[in-house]
Amino acid sequence: MSTSLSSPSDTARADAVLALIGNTPMVPLRFDPEGLTLWAKCEFLNPSGSIKDRLAKTILVDARQRGLLRPDTIILECTSGNTGIALSMVGAAMGCHVTILMSSSASEERRLLIRRLGAELVLFDSAGRYQTGIEMSREMAAKDARYFLPRQFENPLNVEDHEHGTGQEILRQVQGPIDAFVTGFGTGGTLAGCGKAIKHRWPQARIVAMEPAEQALLAGECPCCHCIEGVADGFVPALLRDAPLDGEVKVRSADALAMTRRLHREFGLLVGTSSGANVVAALQVCRELGPDARVVTLLCDRAERYFSTSLFADAVSGR
Ligand SMILES: Cc1ncc(COP(=O)(O)O)c(C=O)c1O
Repeated sequence: MSTSLSSPSDTARADAVLALIGNTPMVPLRFDPEGLTLWAKCEFLNPSGSIKDRLAKTILVDARQRGLLRPDTIILECTSGNTGIALSMVGAAMGCHVTILMSSSASEERRLLIRRLGAELVLFDSAGRYQTGIEMSREMAAKDARYFLPRQFENPLNVEDHEHGTGQEILRQVQGPIDAFVTGFGTGGTLAGCGKAIKHRWPQARIVAMEPAEQALLAGECPCCHCIEGVADGFVPALLRDAPLDGEVKVRSADALAMTRRLHREFGLLVGTSSGANVVAALQVCRELGPDARVVTLLCDRAERYFSTSLFADAVSGR
């Protein structure tokens, strides 16, 4: 593995790749016969395939600027997949060592991508407890000074990046008032950051969390199994504490899967299951607010990441 980049030309080479991150397009999605239109931001078009590229770039560039990335530094993070792929991608571009802790339940595609990007992958058996991996990363970092922890669940840069980046892009792309912003949460960074930016510009806008119905934590229910990978890891994240939330919409896994397949077949958008879930929740909010409401949501990651999951079970059996 190469050492951390430090010369100006190496930095320029890395930055040329990192410039591909963000500034994703916004697509209007029209749903007939209801005649409802949602505004969907195409985060799946980020270079490693998800919204998490933004966080990875912001945290690692900040660390580089503060001189925290030495040649022997190892970036260490526990993730359910997309952050791991994003950190591995940004780490590859910057020439950094990356180790990813991931639950053994994460899809095979995610593991392959992380390894292909040159990162080390450590799988843990969480038995449904994501905190296990977070505690593991803290223990490893306490014993070895080479580890640098991005700490996506508590790093304020996570929220700030979405407030000043993604959120501002949304405000530029959607002309006129926004009536609602609807998305799921993992760390809560996207919901809190974009929510703050949108609420600041359009105070009447409703900021709504999408939650898997089988694990509606904000609605006060207990953790349980759901099929919407990337969101609701079994606890309410700290970054959501000061988010300007107006409510939540529960989405059943079956409805999320059906809508995601509809986005594939009827819109030609190859997105992952949480995107379908976000669209189900956003449509519900749009119905409540009326046909002229401007409701914004996110298409968070790519379908190719889910070939081995229930999302593609129907395609594999030829249906
Ligand atoms: C697949 C996926 N990744 C990431 C996110 C956003 O996560 P976070 O709350 O960590 O910003 C979402 C949110 O819906 C998601 O669906």
